[in-house]
Amino acid sequence: MILVALWFILLKFFSMEIDTAETVPAAGPPLYAVLGHPVAHSLSPQMQMAAFTACQIPARYLRIDVPPETLPATVQKLKSFAAPGWNCTLPLKNEMLTLVDEVDPSAQRLGVVNTVLNDAGRLIGFNTDGEGWMRAIREEFRMDVHDLRIMILGAGGAGRAVAVQAALERCERLVIVNRTFEKSQALVRELEPLMRTDKLMGSCARLAAIPWNDDAIAAEISNIDLLVNATSVGVISHDPLILPVRLLQPHLMVYDLIYRPAKTKLMEAAQEVGARGANGLGMLLHQGAAAFTIWTGISAPLDAMRTALLQACQSTR
Ligand code: ATR
Repeated sequence: MILVALWFILLKFFSMEIDTAETVPAAGPPLYAVLGHPVAHSLSPQMQMAAFTACQIPARYLRIDVPPETLPATVQKLKSFAAPGWNCTLPLKNEMLTLVDEVDPSAQRLGVVNTVLNDAGRLIGFNTDGEGWMRAIREEFRMDVHDLRIMILGAGGAGRAVAVQAALERCERLVIVNRTFEKSQALVRELEPLMRTDKLMGSCARLAAIPWNDDAIAAEISNIDLLVNATSVGVISHDPLILPVRLLQPHLMVYDLIYRPAKTKLMEAAQEVGARGANGLGMLLHQGAAAFTIWTGISAPLDAMRTALLQACQSTR
């Protein structure tokens, strides 16, 4: 009993440290990790360790700080430790794509890898962000992305992941709004082949990029069901509200990819007008759950992972 307790204390200890490629101990349970630079903020260790523990799978999951120029050497080191898999966050997601032996279509579409499976020395790169977002929307609003008219604010990495998934799901409508208009236009051009349909949509374009201004957004929002904030605005506590409250309408579902604070400014604004809102914790959970399944082949213990995430959010506020 004491040994079991010690084991879990050790697991917890392993899940909290920040390592570098040099400090990762070779010996120990199978090694999983999140690689990033910086990586201290990542909640993946708490979430994934909760999953391994709940499923009684011996594992350690480390945070490894990887300056971009050291990524190839770190990947070699993980391979030499026979690490079964790892996650990858900013700014390493693009380069990771070039370091794997096989790229799953989920990563190919986005050009970025957030999950790697080490299949007996052969590395396969995946991206679970789009899938995670889609599952989160289903869970939060009991709606399928396929049935929704969606407006996405932001066309950076996160906006792209969400937009590609929405297009793959052949959502009813997709409107992309980005401060740098050319980026949303380029994304729309890329998505056009995925969204082609014979459906008649009346006067509304089924797929459109619109400029970032109140009039353009106001003109579209009555024909939108789901508004997604995929910009970085709101990450810092003194960031302004991403849209004026008067642009929001009660019929909207509002999904903010930001999850700290738990009630974001955009969620507060949604509540003020009587709309439903949710934060991005569900997306974080479901992209992590999808990664867990890729590594282990079993469905993820969502309740344990969610509890760990909520606790981690509270203790790292
Ligand atoms: P991430 O990977 O988190 O998506 P990113 O690729 O740097 O990060 O993208 C940040 C997104 O937030 C972009 O869509 C960015 O708009 P631009 O493409 O015009 O830079 C958006 N963004 C950042 N600050 C913004 C602001 N003050 N107002 C509106 N959009 C903003």
